[in-house]
Amino acid sequence: MSAVSNKHPASARRAAALTGHGRLPGDKSISHRALILASLATGTSHIRGLLEGDDVLATAQAMRAMGAEIEKHENGIWQVNGVGPMGLKSPTAPLDFGNAGTGVRLVMGLVAGAGIEAEFIGDASLSSRPMGRVLDPLRQMGAQAEAAEGGRLPVRIKAAPLLPASITPDVASAQVKSAILLAGLGIAGDISVCEKTATRGHSETMLALFGADISVTDEDGFHIVTLHNRQGPSRLTARDLDVPGDPSSAAFPMIAALTVPGSDVVLENIMLNRQRDGLIRVLREMGGDISMTHKRQSSGETVADLRVRYSALHGLDVAADIAPDMIDEFPALAIAAASAQGTTHMAGLAELRVKESDRLAAMEAGLKANGVTVEAGEDWLRVTGSGPNPSIAGGGMVETHHDHRIAMAFLCLGLVAEQPVSVDDRAMIATSFPEFFSLMATLGAQID
Ligand code: S3P
Repeated sequence: MSAVSNKHPASARRAAALTGHGRLPGDKSISHRALILASLATGTSHIRGLLEGDDVLATAQAMRAMGAEIEKHENGIWQVNGVGPMGLKSPTAPLDFGNAGTGVRLVMGLVAGAGIEAEFIGDASLSSRPMGRVLDPLRQMGAQAEAAEGGRLPVRIKAAPLLPASITPDVASAQVKSAILLAGLGIAGDISVCEKTATRGHSETMLALFGADISVTDEDGFHIVTLHNRQGPSRLTARDLDVPGDPSSAAFPMIAALTVPGSDVVLENIMLNRQRDGLIRVLREMGGDISMTHKRQSSGETVADLRVRYSALHGLDVAADIAPDMIDEFPALAIAAASAQGTTHMAGLAELRVKESDRLAAMEAGLKANGVTVEAGEDWLRVTGSGPNPSIAGGGMVETHHDHRIAMAFLCLGLVAEQPVSVDDRAMIATSFPEFFSLMATLGAQID
């Protein structure tokens, strides 16, 4: 069978006003971390609202292969019996992370600090992504790691003692920060990560929830996270968690509601976090009508329901310094920009070249294929929108390059285009948002 025949295309056509309520699945970043920390803790944790996307299930499988007992109850709650401090065992087969960049990078850190060895593999997209950004700091701490050419998968990490360190990563990456902190769990002494730009702090928030001794300070322009292990490896204690809804998944129904005329939807249970809410801030500045109700706390994070109404958006210069706070949301923003009046310039996007696909190239090609005026540079994207009476031609077939967010973004473009917009493969959407099609249908969108 050819590779092409294994693909499952989908297309979306112009929609009438979207209305109603939708509940978002659990946050992917939090779900990975919840499984990892619960697997390390002493005792039994219960996780409610875990994202059951393929990426997170790959992490669950890896943690099982290293000794944690993980099962889902009939009521939907996941129960994890942790192995306790330094209780992980070397897996007998390679750990296959599929498409999951977060899972593989975090668990590499964990394995490096756990005194065990493991091999890491993944799908074609993951195998093309750089792992040196994690392996280099781990090596600075004393880890022994081998990678394929260019610091790619497969990666093998061997048992080696790690030493306390203070590390300043080259890239603004929560995955890198988290890998270093997870490696630090096995060290006697302190491990610090000094970030030039603060990235999502879910690891430090959740480590503190599980009882780790963590401090976070801002000094001399650095955001410094330190894990203190004054008496040998960290001891984590099991606890119950509620995973808040994923703002990166909410981005798609949100931009759909803002751009389909007459729409008025409520998206429930969305996590609001300063390093994750950049898209909401930018869309509001573009004229987007997004309001918040029922703000509350859930497992250390703020959560709210978002009401999103159709709005006449206008273009904006999106400065590079907000990029880390919305790094996964640029495909959604580019689609919203296609319906805005005027030009939206997005800067500081170099990291988009090394996500699940080269997202800058994929966005540029997909927008062009659907008649949208777009230009891209090495680290920027400029989209000229059609204004409040959308006149987006559509009719294009978009290559997703195994990238879930490229697929969802372009299906949202189809909701406002004159001709249906098609994507070559819908399968990867299950990595992060298995309920995408049913949620969009609930709101009234025609995607098939
Ligand atoms: C993530 C961090 C981000 C993001 C990814 C999830 C995380 O990657 O793109 O989808 O959970 O830590 P970087 O930290 O490498 O930018």
